[in-house]
Amino acid sequence: MMASSPDFIASGGTALRGEIRVAGDKSISHRSVMLGSIAEGVTEIEGFLEGEDSLATLAAFRAMGVRIDRPSPGRVTVHGVGLHGLQAPAGDLDLGNSGTSMRLLAGLLAGQSFATRLVGDASLTRRPMARVAEPLRLMGAQIDTAPGGRPPLEIHGAAALKGIEYRMPVASAQVKSALLLAGLYAQGTTRVIEPAPTRDHTERMLAGFGYPLRREGALAELQGGGRLQGAALQVPADISSAAFFLVAASIAPGSDLLLRGVGINPTRTGVIGILRAMGASIEILAERESGGEPVADLRVRGAALRGIVIPEELVPLAIDEFPVLFVAAACADGETLLRGAEELRVKESDRIEVMARGLRALGVELETYPDGIRIRGGASLAPARIDSGGDHRIAMAFCVASLRATGPIVIGDCANVATSFPGFRALAGSVGLQVDEQPPADSEPL
Ligand code: S3P
Repeated sequence: MMASSPDFIASGGTALRGEIRVAGDKSISHRSVMLGSIAEGVTEIEGFLEGEDSLATLAAFRAMGVRIDRPSPGRVTVHGVGLHGLQAPAGDLDLGNSGTSMRLLAGLLAGQSFATRLVGDASLTRRPMARVAEPLRLMGAQIDTAPGGRPPLEIHGAAALKGIEYRMPVASAQVKSALLLAGLYAQGTTRVIEPAPTRDHTERMLAGFGYPLRREGALAELQGGGRLQGAALQVPADISSAAFFLVAASIAPGSDLLLRGVGINPTRTGVIGILRAMGASIEILAERESGGEPVADLRVRGAALRGIVIPEELVPLAIDEFPVLFVAAACADGETLLRGAEELRVKESDRIEVMARGLRALGVELETYPDGIRIRGGASLAPARIDSGGDHRIAMAFCVASLRATGPIVIGDCANVATSFPGFRALAGSVGLQVDEQPPADSEPL
């Protein structure tokens, strides 16, 4: 079944050096196509992530009648159809591996005049959708899920939505965004209150498209029935993709790497705070603003890392970076403890379990908890064959681990790296981290 997913062979390297720009921000790329499609006029996007996840969003809007051109790499032109211009797709909207596409679209589609059915791959089909379906039903949406609140999602058309005030039980930018997008179609005011700060790209971009929105502390609020005006957008490089190189250069002695044009929105920079607390040398240079988002160049040099207790308030601000942060912890002196991160169990894989299995195979001592992990760092890593669990960020995290391993790490099932970071292997190779690809070893179960 997984026969087409290749293995990676990560052979490490010595010091990492050079200047690179990592792939475009995934969260911002999704939103640029969504908002561009329901805006009036043309939206010109630069730096769009041409990964499978954001392309799934793009394909969904094309299927709903939006003309979207891709004149050259990273450039996307969306011919917006306005808030009420989407058309019924001919079939299911297949969102592949992308939880962001499914959850945000659930909100955006809840208020359309036509019905839609949202489906995904095996990983996405295991992920919880009740967190968006339930509050959207409170707004008047008619949404059916499979048992257990899983995909597919059947969204019935022609529901009259009304604004609600919703206190989110989980700190989730996807839930917040789904409700705000539904709120565009709702009568009255939609108010969302988050239990801890989560990424605020939707709010920033709505404002950039001229949509009035009130933000005050944990609250985001908007009225339905307004208009979005097409805009020019520059997507920054993704800090979640930069994170692999921040850790790689930190753990490879003598490294000196410059990562250009990285988004440093304060709701995303937990990884920098955590690595600095571990002793990493990361400089934030040439801070500037681009398309309503703060951007900078990041200079990272090799440093001796030490284990820490990760402050719980940083968890939502670094939620996608934990696979590679666990690798940093394994290479640090002393223990690192993470708690309050149960969300990691419902990402593209159970990231606590799949990382623990892989790290143990490399000889790392650790304990897991329902909401976290304790990692004893410092020992050298043994070569091993491990399984990525079909999870892009786990595959790339173990590539980084090879920098401190005494031999190659073979990582099974790596096709999904293309969901968030196409070109990862080539870019890694260009700065001194060697990762090769080989066809899947079908006959050897992992
Ligand atoms: C995302 C929000 C986060 C994150 C995901 C992208 C977004 O998910 O893990 O990769 O673009 O809004 P949650 O909202 O589930 O925390």
